Amino acid sequence: MQSRKTVKEIREMKQQGARISMLTAYDASMARIFQSCGVDILLVGDSLGMVVLGYDSTVPVTMEDMLHHCSAVRRGAPDGFVVGDMPFGSYQVGVEHGVTNAVRFYKEAGADAVKLEGGEEVCETVSAVVRAGVPVMGHIGLTPQTAGQSGGFTVQGKDESSARRLLHEARALEEAGAFAVVLECIPAGLAEVISQSLSIATIGIGAGSSCDGQVLVSHDLLGMFARFVPRFVKQYADLAPLIEQAVTAYVKEVGDGSFPDKSHSFSPEKDYSTLL
Ligand code: KIV
Repeated sequence: MQSRKTVKEIREMKQQGARISMLTAYDASMARIFQSCGVDILLVGDSLGMVVLGYDSTVPVTMEDMLHHCSAVRRGAPDGFVVGDMPFGSYQVGVEHGVTNAVRFYKEAGADAVKLEGGEEVCETVSAVVRAGVPVMGHIGLTPQTAGQSGGFTVQGKDESSARRLLHEARALEEAGAFAVVLECIPAGLAEVISQSLSIATIGIGAGSSCDGQVLVSHDLLGMFARFVPRFVKQYADLAPLIEQAVTAYVKEVGDGSFPDKSHSFSPEKDYSTLL
Protein backbone atom coordinates (compact mmCIF):
# COMPACT_ATOMS: atom_id res chain seq x y z
CA MET A 1 0.00 0.00 0.00
CA GLN A 2 1.28 3.47 -0.86
CA SER A 3 1.28 6.33 1.64
CA ARG A 4 -0.85 9.40 1.00
CA LYS A 5 0.77 11.81 -1.49
CA THR A 6 1.40 15.38 -0.44
CA VAL A 7 1.21 18.58 -2.46
CA LYS A 8 5.02 18.77 -2.16
CA GLU A 9 5.35 15.31 -3.73
CA ILE A 10 2.98 16.25 -6.56
CA ARG A 11 5.12 19.33 -7.23
CA GLU A 12 8.22 17.08 -7.19
CA MET A 13 6.61 14.66 -9.66
CA LYS A 14 6.36 17.57 -12.13
CA GLN A 15 10.03 18.47 -11.58
CA GLN A 16 11.13 14.86 -12.02
CA GLY A 17 8.99 14.30 -15.12
CA ALA A 18 6.98 11.54 -13.38
CA ARG A 19 3.47 11.27 -14.88
CA ILE A 20 0.55 11.82 -12.50
CA SER A 21 -2.56 9.61 -12.67
CA MET A 22 -5.85 11.10 -11.50
CA LEU A 23 -9.22 9.36 -11.61
CA THR A 24 -12.67 10.32 -10.39
CA ALA A 25 -14.18 8.40 -7.46
CA TYR A 26 -17.55 8.90 -5.81
CA ASP A 27 -17.93 6.14 -3.21
CA ALA A 28 -15.92 4.18 -0.67
CA SER A 29 -15.85 0.81 -2.50
CA MET A 30 -14.45 2.19 -5.74
CA ALA A 31 -12.08 4.53 -3.90
CA ARG A 32 -10.65 1.51 -2.04
CA ILE A 33 -10.02 -0.32 -5.33
CA PHE A 34 -8.52 2.75 -7.04
CA GLN A 35 -6.23 3.36 -4.06
CA SER A 36 -4.99 -0.23 -4.23
CA CYS A 37 -4.20 0.29 -7.96
CA GLY A 38 -1.85 3.16 -7.10
CA VAL A 39 -3.86 6.06 -8.54
CA ASP A 40 -1.98 9.23 -7.48
CA ILE A 41 -4.99 11.53 -7.07
CA LEU A 42 -8.66 10.66 -6.47
CA LEU A 43 -10.93 13.44 -7.73
CA VAL A 44 -14.42 13.57 -6.30
CA GLY A 45 -15.61 15.34 -9.45
CA ASP A 46 -18.89 17.18 -9.80
CA SER A 47 -19.34 14.79 -12.76
CA LEU A 48 -21.02 12.98 -9.84
CA GLY A 49 -24.14 14.83 -10.98
CA MET A 50 -24.16 13.13 -14.37
CA VAL A 51 -22.69 9.67 -13.80
CA VAL A 52 -24.14 8.93 -10.34
CA LEU A 53 -27.04 11.29 -9.60
CA GLY A 54 -28.65 11.23 -13.06
CA TYR A 55 -28.67 14.97 -13.84
CA ASP A 56 -28.14 16.27 -17.38
CA SER A 57 -25.27 18.52 -16.31
CA THR A 58 -23.03 19.24 -13.32
CA VAL A 59 -24.86 22.48 -12.47
CA PRO A 60 -27.49 21.09 -10.02
CA VAL A 61 -24.87 19.40 -7.80
CA THR A 62 -24.85 20.88 -4.28
CA MET A 63 -22.21 21.29 -1.58
CA GLU A 64 -24.09 18.73 0.50
CA ASP A 65 -23.94 16.18 -2.39
CA MET A 66 -20.21 16.77 -2.76
CA LEU A 67 -19.39 16.61 0.96
CA HIS A 68 -21.41 13.39 1.31
CA HIS A 69 -19.52 11.65 -1.52
CA CYS A 70 -16.13 13.17 -0.67
CA SER A 71 -16.41 11.81 2.90
CA ALA A 72 -17.24 8.36 1.49
CA VAL A 73 -14.16 8.45 -0.77
CA ARG A 74 -12.00 9.54 2.16
CA ARG A 75 -13.29 6.59 4.25
CA GLY A 76 -12.66 4.14 1.39
CA ALA A 77 -9.18 5.49 0.61
CA PRO A 78 -7.61 6.71 3.83
CA ASP A 79 -4.22 6.81 2.06
CA GLY A 80 -5.41 8.47 -1.14
CA PHE A 81 -4.78 12.12 -2.08
CA VAL A 82 -8.40 13.28 -2.40
CA VAL A 83 -9.44 16.41 -4.29
CA GLY A 84 -12.98 17.73 -3.74
CA ASP A 85 -14.53 19.49 -6.74
CA MET A 86 -16.27 22.72 -5.76
CA PRO A 87 -19.76 22.64 -7.30
CA PHE A 88 -21.36 25.49 -9.24
CA GLY A 89 -22.53 28.21 -6.87
CA SER A 90 -20.12 27.33 -4.08
CA TYR A 91 -17.41 29.87 -5.04
CA GLN A 92 -19.04 32.29 -7.50
CA VAL A 93 -20.95 34.41 -4.96
CA GLY A 94 -17.88 35.96 -3.34
CA VAL A 95 -14.36 35.23 -2.15
CA GLU A 96 -15.41 34.67 1.47
CA HIS A 97 -18.14 32.24 0.41
CA GLY A 98 -15.57 30.31 -1.66
CA VAL A 99 -13.16 30.11 1.27
CA THR A 100 -15.93 28.94 3.60
CA ASN A 101 -16.91 26.13 1.24
CA ALA A 102 -13.32 25.10 0.51
CA VAL A 103 -12.70 24.85 4.26
CA ARG A 104 -15.80 22.62 4.55
CA PHE A 105 -14.28 20.16 2.03
CA TYR A 106 -11.04 20.12 4.02
CA LYS A 107 -12.52 19.98 7.48
CA GLU A 108 -15.80 18.06 7.14
CA ALA A 109 -15.04 15.72 4.22
CA GLY A 110 -11.30 15.15 4.76
CA ALA A 111 -10.27 16.39 1.29
CA ASP A 112 -6.58 17.14 0.78
CA ALA A 113 -7.34 19.87 -1.75
CA VAL A 114 -10.18 21.44 -3.73
CA LYS A 115 -10.59 22.05 -7.45
CA LEU A 116 -12.45 24.95 -9.01
CA GLU A 117 -13.16 25.96 -12.58
CA GLY A 118 -12.19 29.25 -14.21
CA GLY A 119 -9.32 31.58 -15.11
CA GLU A 120 -8.56 35.11 -13.95
CA GLU A 121 -12.04 35.62 -12.51
CA VAL A 122 -11.35 32.98 -9.81
CA CYS A 123 -7.74 33.93 -9.02
CA GLU A 124 -8.67 36.12 -6.04
CA THR A 125 -10.62 33.20 -4.57
CA VAL A 126 -7.79 30.76 -5.32
CA SER A 127 -5.31 33.00 -3.43
CA ALA A 128 -7.66 33.39 -0.49
CA VAL A 129 -8.36 29.63 -0.24
CA VAL A 130 -4.62 28.85 -0.41
CA ARG A 131 -3.95 31.49 2.27
CA ALA A 132 -6.62 29.82 4.41
CA GLY A 133 -4.57 26.62 4.22
CA VAL A 134 -6.43 24.59 1.59
CA PRO A 135 -4.46 23.58 -1.53
CA VAL A 136 -6.19 24.42 -4.83
CA MET A 137 -6.20 22.76 -8.24
CA GLY A 138 -7.37 24.98 -11.12
CA HIS A 139 -9.41 23.88 -14.16
CA ILE A 140 -9.43 25.71 -17.51
CA GLY A 141 -10.31 25.01 -21.14
CA LEU A 142 -13.68 23.34 -21.33
CA THR A 143 -15.25 24.18 -18.00
CA PRO A 144 -18.51 22.16 -17.82
CA GLN A 145 -20.15 24.36 -15.14
CA THR A 146 -20.16 27.35 -17.55
CA ALA A 147 -19.93 25.55 -20.91
CA GLY A 148 -23.02 27.40 -22.14
CA GLN A 149 -21.16 30.74 -21.91
CA SER A 150 -17.98 29.52 -23.59
CA GLY A 151 -19.50 27.93 -26.69
CA GLY A 152 -20.68 24.53 -25.41
CA PHE A 153 -18.91 21.22 -25.01
CA THR A 154 -16.31 21.83 -27.72
CA VAL A 155 -12.54 22.07 -27.96
CA GLN A 156 -11.30 25.39 -26.54
CA GLY A 157 -8.25 27.45 -27.56
CA LYS A 158 -8.20 26.56 -31.24
CA ASP A 159 -7.51 30.08 -32.53
CA GLU A 160 -4.53 32.22 -31.56
CA SER A 161 -6.33 34.68 -29.30
CA SER A 162 -8.15 32.02 -27.27
CA ALA A 163 -4.94 29.97 -27.08
CA ARG A 164 -3.11 33.03 -25.69
CA ARG A 165 -5.93 33.61 -23.23
CA LEU A 166 -5.65 30.02 -21.93
CA LEU A 167 -1.87 30.33 -21.52
CA HIS A 168 -2.42 33.59 -19.64
CA GLU A 169 -5.10 32.00 -17.40
CA ALA A 170 -2.84 29.05 -16.59
CA ARG A 171 -0.04 31.42 -15.56
CA ALA A 172 -2.46 33.52 -13.51
CA LEU A 173 -3.63 30.41 -11.61
CA GLU A 174 -0.03 29.42 -10.91
CA GLU A 175 0.66 32.96 -9.68
CA ALA A 176 -2.44 32.80 -7.48
CA GLY A 177 -1.03 29.75 -5.72
CA ALA A 178 -2.70 26.74 -7.40
CA PHE A 179 -0.54 23.60 -7.10
CA ALA A 180 -1.85 22.03 -10.34
CA VAL A 181 -4.27 22.81 -13.13
CA VAL A 182 -6.64 20.63 -15.17
CA LEU A 183 -6.57 21.35 -18.92
CA GLU A 184 -9.81 20.06 -20.45
CA CYS A 185 -10.43 19.69 -24.17
CA ILE A 186 -7.73 21.86 -25.69
CA PRO A 187 -5.38 21.15 -28.62
CA ALA A 188 -2.47 18.86 -27.72
CA GLY A 189 0.15 21.37 -28.91
CA LEU A 190 -1.32 24.15 -26.77
CA ALA A 191 -1.37 21.84 -23.72
CA GLU A 192 2.29 21.08 -24.38
CA VAL A 193 3.21 24.79 -24.44
CA ILE A 194 1.20 25.48 -21.26
CA SER A 195 2.80 22.48 -19.51
CA GLN A 196 6.28 23.67 -20.47
CA SER A 197 5.66 27.21 -19.30
CA LEU A 198 4.34 26.32 -15.83
CA SER A 199 6.24 25.08 -12.78
CA ILE A 200 3.03 23.45 -11.47
CA ALA A 201 1.61 20.21 -12.87
CA THR A 202 -0.93 20.17 -15.70
CA ILE A 203 -3.46 17.35 -15.64
CA GLY A 204 -5.01 16.76 -19.04
CA ILE A 205 -8.37 15.42 -20.16
CA GLY A 206 -8.71 15.65 -23.92
CA ALA A 207 -5.47 17.66 -23.96
CA GLY A 208 -2.96 15.22 -25.48
CA SER A 209 0.00 13.36 -24.10
CA SER A 210 2.32 16.21 -23.10
CA CYS A 211 0.51 17.13 -19.89
CA ASP A 212 2.20 16.22 -16.62
CA GLY A 213 -0.71 13.94 -15.73
CA GLN A 214 -4.02 12.63 -17.01
CA VAL A 215 -7.51 12.39 -15.58
CA LEU A 216 -10.55 10.41 -16.70
CA VAL A 217 -14.04 10.00 -15.32
CA SER A 218 -13.99 6.47 -13.86
CA HIS A 219 -17.42 5.56 -15.28
CA ASP A 220 -16.06 6.41 -18.77
CA LEU A 221 -12.85 4.41 -18.26
CA LEU A 222 -14.84 1.40 -17.05
CA GLY A 223 -17.57 1.57 -19.72
CA MET A 224 -20.37 2.30 -17.27
CA PHE A 225 -21.70 5.56 -18.73
CA ALA A 226 -23.11 4.92 -22.17
CA ARG A 227 -25.05 8.17 -22.79
CA PHE A 228 -22.15 9.58 -24.78
CA VAL A 229 -18.47 8.70 -25.09
CA PRO A 230 -16.25 11.70 -25.93
CA ARG A 231 -13.38 11.14 -28.36
CA PHE A 232 -10.76 11.63 -25.62
CA VAL A 233 -12.12 8.78 -23.51
CA LYS A 234 -10.35 5.45 -23.61
CA GLN A 235 -12.61 2.68 -22.33
CA TYR A 236 -10.30 0.24 -20.55
CA ALA A 237 -13.25 -2.05 -19.78
CA ASP A 238 -16.85 -2.48 -20.93
CA LEU A 239 -18.60 -3.20 -17.65
CA ALA A 240 -22.17 -2.19 -18.55
CA PRO A 241 -22.88 -5.40 -20.55
CA LEU A 242 -21.28 -7.52 -17.79
CA ILE A 243 -23.49 -5.88 -15.17
CA GLU A 244 -26.55 -6.37 -17.40
CA GLN A 245 -25.67 -10.04 -17.86
CA ALA A 246 -25.25 -10.61 -14.11
CA VAL A 247 -28.44 -8.77 -13.12
CA THR A 248 -30.50 -10.47 -15.86
CA ALA A 249 -29.32 -13.87 -14.57
CA TYR A 250 -30.25 -12.85 -11.01
CA VAL A 251 -33.76 -11.76 -12.06
CA LYS A 252 -34.24 -15.04 -13.94
CA GLU A 253 -33.04 -17.20 -11.02
CA VAL A 254 -35.20 -15.36 -8.48
CA GLY A 255 -38.13 -15.85 -10.89
CA ASP A 256 -37.60 -19.58 -11.40
CA GLY A 257 -36.64 -20.25 -7.75
CA SER A 258 -33.10 -21.47 -8.48
CA PHE A 259 -31.66 -18.70 -6.29
CA PRO A 260 -31.02 -19.04 -3.42
CA ASP A 261 -29.96 -22.69 -3.52
CA LYS A 262 -28.79 -24.69 -0.47
CA SER A 263 -25.26 -23.29 -0.65
CA HIS A 264 -26.62 -19.76 -0.14
CA SER A 265 -29.01 -20.67 2.70
CA PHE A 266 -28.58 -21.18 6.47
CA SER A 267 -29.22 -24.69 7.93
CA PRO A 268 -31.14 -25.83 4.82
CA GLU A 269 -31.44 -29.43 6.17
CA LYS A 270 -33.05 -28.46 9.48
CA ASP A 271 -36.81 -29.09 9.70
CA TYR A 272 -38.91 -26.35 11.36
CA SER A 273 -42.32 -27.66 10.21
CA THR A 274 -43.09 -28.86 13.78
CA LEU A 275 -43.46 -25.19 14.74
CA LEU A 276 -46.70 -25.00 12.75
O1 KIV B 1 -15.97 16.62 -12.48
C1 KIV B 1 -15.06 15.99 -13.06
O2 KIV B 1 -15.08 14.77 -13.18
C2 KIV B 1 -13.96 16.78 -13.59
C3 KIV B 1 -12.96 16.07 -14.44
C4 KIV B 1 -13.53 15.79 -15.77
C5 KIV B 1 -11.69 16.83 -14.55
O3 KIV B 1 -13.88 17.95 -13.36
